[in-house]
Amino acid sequence: MSKQFPTVLIDRFQRRVDYVRLSITDRCDFRCVYCMAEEMVFVPKRQVLTLEELQQVAQAFTELGVRKIRLTGGEPLIRTNVMGLVEDLGQLPGLEELVITTNGSQLQRLAVPLRQCGVKRVNISLDSLNPRKFRHLTRHGNLDQVIAGIDAAIGAGFDRVKINAVILKGRNDDEVPELVEFVRSRGIDLAFIEEMPLGNIVEHDRALSLCTSAELREIIGRRHSLQALDEQAEHAGPARYYGMADSPSRVGFISPHSENFCHQCNRVRVTAEGRLLLCLGNEHSVDLRAVLRGPDYSLDRLKQVIVDAMDIKPERHYFDNRGEPEILRFMNMTGG
Ligand code: GTP
Ligand code: 5AD
Ligand code: SF4
Repeated sequence: MSKQFPTVLIDRFQRRVDYVRLSITDRCDFRCVYCMAEEMVFVPKRQVLTLEELQQVAQAFTELGVRKIRLTGGEPLIRTNVMGLVEDLGQLPGLEELVITTNGSQLQRLAVPLRQCGVKRVNISLDSLNPRKFRHLTRHGNLDQVIAGIDAAIGAGFDRVKINAVILKGRNDDEVPELVEFVRSRGIDLAFIEEMPLGNIVEHDRALSLCTSAELREIIGRRHSLQALDEQAEHAGPARYYGMADSPSRVGFISPHSENFCHQCNRVRVTAEGRLLLCLGNEHSVDLRAVLRGPDYSLDRLKQVIVDAMDIKPERHYFDNRGEPEILRFMNMTGG
């Protein structure tokens, strides 16, 4: 008789985990200064989960009540045959939301196919509207290509297109008003993200460059009156969203330093190597790849390991040391 599993995942703090962020590659065509070192060593390909393994992981989670999967990277859309995976995941029973976070470089080509495979929403990184500065912050990115990608996503008819901007003092904090106007002119959303101390970078001093959400709200408030939206029930996530009376665009703030949101955390992550990470700001993890590649692999065994892992989900993260990385893995391993 096959084993009975719970239909929902609940951790020790009575939080329901119904959202998985799946990093499908650690590679990226950009090298954003807050995310990666200039010379990155990527994981050998055999250590990265195969598309079939990713599909098994997604199936195990959805059978355990996960309703939302976000594909992340690195840059998820540069993974070979990514559309085959997206198509398979789009058909998983129980999965209500398949969404993706991307740097936008491939969207001119892939926005329409993603929408056709059932992807509901896309989040696209955009830290500057100045081509030279954009190139500097991403080290390899081409602004025109990304803006064309954003417009392709808008044209493809996703339920929601959201721009992510990491603001660094002295680098792009002067562009906050322009970024707000950019999303308003397109009727899309924007989230400002405080830089998190993940991975050891030498390009800038994170303690000095941190721009808090309160500072950003003050800058935007000079031009637009922001009204807090009460949407936490619908999108229990780290962003606090605000609306503007004269625009459908929403502006959010993700503030891991200044506003803790761990008490309502509903998510876990799977790294490109198949490590189930119970919290972005802690090292608690379980090696799913070892299960997937073990001699006695079965979907039930994978599900049992996931159920058991809920017991080690930490209560909260601490990014208190303003800049020094406590967590040495780079963001591209976890997909944010
Ligand atoms: P939703 O799925 O709508 O909640 O999107 P999102 O804004 O969480 O996803 P996205 O991939 O766009 O991530 C934006 C930023 O939020 C990234 O910098 C993530 O690292 C950060 N983020 C997402 N989840 C968490 C979390 O649980 N803790 C912390 N500290 N940051 C998170
Ligand atoms: N701190 C905050 N956000 C980061 N991102 C990448 N690295 C960091 C970091 N160290 C952002 C990207 C992308 C999202 C998934 O994570 O800009 O929008
Ligand atoms: Fe690539 Fe995203 Fe990291 Fe930039 S933030 S280097 S686009 S993975």
